[in-house]
Formats: sequence, C-alpha cells, structure tokens
Amino acid sequence: MVFVLGIETSCDETAAAIVSGDREIKANIVLSQIKEHQPYGGVVPEIAARSHLSHLEGIVQKCLKQAGMTLGDISAVAATGGPGLIGGLIVGVMTAKAMSAARGLPFIAVNHLEAHALTARLTNDVQFPYLLLLVSGGHCQLLIVKGVGQYKKLGTTKDDAVGEAFDKVAKMLNLGYPGGPLVEKAARDAKHPERFVLPIPMKGQAGCDFSFSGLKTAVCQKIMHDLGDKPAVQDVADLSAAFQQAATESLIDRCRNAIQSSVVSHQSSVNKLVIAGGVAANTYIREQLKLLAEENGFELIAPPISLCGDNAAMIAWAGLERFRLGQQDGMDFAPRPRWPLEEMR
Ligand code: KG4
Ligand code: ZN
Repeated sequence: MVFVLGIETSCDETAAAIVSGDREIKANIVLSQIKEHQPYGGVVPEIAARSHLSHLEGIVQKCLKQAGMTLGDISAVAATGGPGLIGGLIVGVMTAKAMSAARGLPFIAVNHLEAHALTARLTNDVQFPYLLLLVSGGHCQLLIVKGVGQYKKLGTTKDDAVGEAFDKVAKMLNLGYPGGPLVEKAARDAKHPERFVLPIPMKGQAGCDFSFSGLKTAVCQKIMHDLGDKPAVQDVADLSAAFQQAATESLIDRCRNAIQSSVVSHQSSVNKLVIAGGVAANTYIREQLKLLAEENGFELIAPPISLCGDNAAMIAWAGLERFRLGQQDGMDFAPRPRWPLEEMR
C-alpha cells in the first residue's frame, strides 16, 4: 500500500497528514496560528514563518504517531510548494526535502490550489472531468478539472477573492478574524436582511468572472450611512446576512453560466459541480449551490467542512495522485509564492 506524508505551511496553519492509496486518512493534524495573528486582524507573514519553524517538526512526529507509522512506512513526502507566503513555504519545502533526502524517498512539491481542486477525489472518489468552484481567501475561480495537472480556467476574480470579501466585511463589522465563519454565524441571527439592498456583483453578465470589491464598498457605505460607529447586534446580523446573500447570489449566477458553457463544450461528460477552498465550508453557500446543481441536472459534491479549509490531507492526497503518475520533484525545486493552476506542468 502507498502512504504519502503531506505538509502544509503556505499560510497560517501548520499541518501534516498521511493518506493511503485507498483514500484513507491515517492521520491529519492541523495547528492553527489564529491566536498569534488575531491581535493584528490578519496574517503577519513573519510571525507565520517563525511559528511554522517552531511547530512543524513536532506536528510531523505527532502525525506519524497518530498513524502508528514511522518514516520507514512512507512512500513519498509531499509539501505545499506554492502559492503562498514565501517564509512558510520555505519551512515546509525544506523540511520535506530533508526527510526525503535522509530516507531516500521521492519529494513532491504540491500546488496548494491543485490540492484544494483534488480534495473531492480523496473524500468522494469523484472521477474526471468535473466543474470546480474554488473559493478561498486568496482565490476565486471556476475551472474544468480534466485530470491531474489539467485545468481549463473558465473565470476568475477581477479584484477581491470571495473569502477576502468575507474577511474585510467582518473587519468592518468588528466581528474579528478570520471573518468568513464569523459573518456566517452573525447572519444566522438575522431578522430583516432585506432592509439592506446591496448590489449583486456581475449578475446577468456573460462569462464566469467574479468581482467582490464593489459589494465590499457597498457594505462599507451602509455601515457609514445607516449604522454608525457602534452598530447594534441586530444590525450586524442583518447586514451580515444581506452581504452573504448578495455574495452567494453572485457565485450562483457565475456558476450557472459555467454549467451552461461546460455542457456546451463537453457535451454532457461534465455533470458534477465540485466546491473547494475555505469558503466552501459556508453552509448557506453549500445549500444554494446544491439547488443550482440539481436544477441543472448536476450533482453538487462538497467535501466535509473540516477538509474545505487549509489542511495537509489534501496536500498528501495531491502528492499521492502525482506519485501514482510517476511524477516527483528535484532537490532544486524553489518554492513559488505565485503559482497559477494553468502553469502546472
Ligand atoms: O482555503 P483557505 O483555508 O485558505 C486559503 O487558501 O485562502 O480559505 C480561507 C478563507 C478565509 O477568507 C475565510 O474567511 C474563508 O475562507 N472562510 C469562510 C468560511 N470559513 C472560512 N468564508 C465564508 N463562510 C465560512 N464559513
Ligand atoms: Zn487554501
């Protein structure tokens, strides 16, 4: 049996996991740095890199122990090679290279976006091709996933990513960081979200691109004009829900176009809509996308919420997919802060 050890250090989670060739997650450990960054209202790259350096070795040891394995049982070591914050990437890549050199194991540099994109194959055994909505803090894209390393981009954001918009709205409403889950939680207590009329970005426009900065600005104006400096809890709940609804309606509108264009171009071989990335943890978005998929004869595939945000099981799995195809990277691999999916080898 093949077992791949994966390491994730591209942002503010230090994580290690082991997955097997038959899609079993033997161990999956995620150490969140949220508390270290919270006082600053966002991720501080220098703090993130130092924290990865202090914790990664212990996390890898804990991971092997949880799986009941030693490095002798591992077939390959995978680490996020990009995109992400360079300090953290260097820590993860160097640790993986050191382990692979010491044990004579293949080293695989994984693209973080590809790991999100392939997660549904680990959790739901989804077959290629499929339509993918990749929504995270740094990315917002619609793609057709044709195979490992084979991505056709249908659309991307012209400005902010949707997760970034959630984070900024949370900050404006003094909800804290990271914003997505906090906006979702506040929105659950909404009574009259309809009293805040917000624009639905890109709605009705052709194509599959996104834009969220106008919506963010509209929320900012509502706060300044209607709510003031110290908004009431109910106002925050209602505006959070209004924002979440507008952002979701925009995602739905873009996905509808993507479904239509993928049906036309692939003559119905694409019939699954997969969601991935941190924002895919949002229950309201999942529900609305499920309705859209069903209306169009598609199946919505959403990985468990625990595997939507950053984790190392997805890195180990993407590494395993590449390992099975006979791919590996050299010791000269340099981490890539920017690494678009279309530039996969
Ligand atoms: O994939 P991820 O963990 O990290 C990146 O690669 O960016 O995504 C993090 C993003 C953050 O912007 C966070 O606010 C957002 O995902 N997010 C959510 C939810 N949970 C996380 N956004 C909306 N609703 C959520 N429940
Ligand atoms: Zn991510």
